[in-house]
Parts: sequence; structure tokens; C-alpha cells
Amino acid sequence: MYASVNLVKSTNTKMESKKLKYKKLDGISEKQLSEHHDVLYVGYVNKVAAIDKALKSVNLEGVNATFSDLRELKIEETFAVNGVKLHEAYFDNLGGNGLPSGKITELIKRDFGSIDSWKKEFMACGLAARGWVVLAFDLDTKKLRNVVCDLHNQGGVWNCVSLLVLDVYEHAYFIDFATARAKYIDVFMKNIDWADVNSRLKKFKVE
Ligand SMILES: [Fe+2]
Repeated sequence: MYASVNLVKSTNTKMESKKLKYKKLDGISEKQLSEHHDVLYVGYVNKVAAIDKALKSVNLEGVNATFSDLRELKIEETFAVNGVKLHEAYFDNLGGNGLPSGKITELIKRDFGSIDSWKKEFMACGLAARGWVVLAFDLDTKKLRNVVCDLHNQGGVWNCVSLLVLDVYEHAYFIDFATARAKYIDVFMKNIDWADVNSRLKKFKVE
């Protein structure tokens, strides 16, 4: 069973690539962002379309869980769709001044004790993860948690709303930071758009 971080922000029903709301960020170059967004993210969007197309004519006879065309397409569908959703959330939650504000700060303080304690764990998760770190709201426990996810479609926790998404795959930072992942995480934190994070609380009616 593959668990994924459900309810990642997505405004697309039929997936089409979304434009970046900025060209570069404080500490992240246009080149780094364009490779990440225009090549990698758009690549996931195109793959979702290709998989959708292939699913229309896939053979549903003789399907099994070791190998079948349907299985392979459905597994890669979760990888590609989650790749699109996580990247959209990631790009959208950047472009701000990094200063926590609004309702999310109350929830963070309630569930982590302080902004600093949350930040310390979130940033450490950025070093522990192989793919993603998501500040998520668990709809079952009604609490925030920092979720680590190694692949788009492996890891994560069901029934969670993703509020803040950090991409720690090397492609997200290697052009600008090489192996200095911690430096990239610092820069990420300084560029968070907390207004966007708060808009997700509103969108999913989280409290
Ligand atoms: Fe990425």
C-alpha cells in the first residue's frame, strides 16, 4: 500500500502546468528555479496526461499485482500526480518574506509549543528526508505534524492537509548550493509565503 500526503493543494481537475508567481527568489537563482519548474515540474504534468491517455486503452483482462500494464500505469499515476501536487504546493508556498504570520502561527504554537520548536524539527526533517517535508494538518487527530516523504508516492500520512511543503530532492537546490543542503533549507525558510500557507487553512477549513 502506498500512502501519500493527501489533499495537497491542487487547483487543477485536468492537470495543466501552473506558472511560477516569481522569476527568482532571494538566494535561489532563475536558472535553479527554471530547471526545477519548467523542466521537472512540467515533466510531471506531461506524464500525467500521457498516463491518462494510456489508461483509456489499457487491457483490464488478466491484471495482477506482480506485473500488468494497468498496475504499472496506476503506480506511476500516483507518482506523477503527487509529483505535480507537491511541486505546486512547494512553488506556491515560496515568494514571501519568511516571517510567520496569521492563523497558522496559532496552530503551530498550539501543537509544537513555539514557532522555534516547530522550525527546529521541520528543518531537521529537511536533512532526514530524501524527497519531501510537509507541515500537514491531520484531519483525524486535528493536529499539525511534520511529515517526511522519500518519494512522491511512498511515505506521508493519509487524511492530512498539506500546509507547507519543502522539496529536498537535489534537483531543487544543487545548481545553487551543491551539497550544502542545510544552506538551501535556510534560504527556503526565508522565502516562505505564509499568506499562502494561511490560505490553505481557509481553503480546507482547517482549525
Ligand atoms: Fe522537485
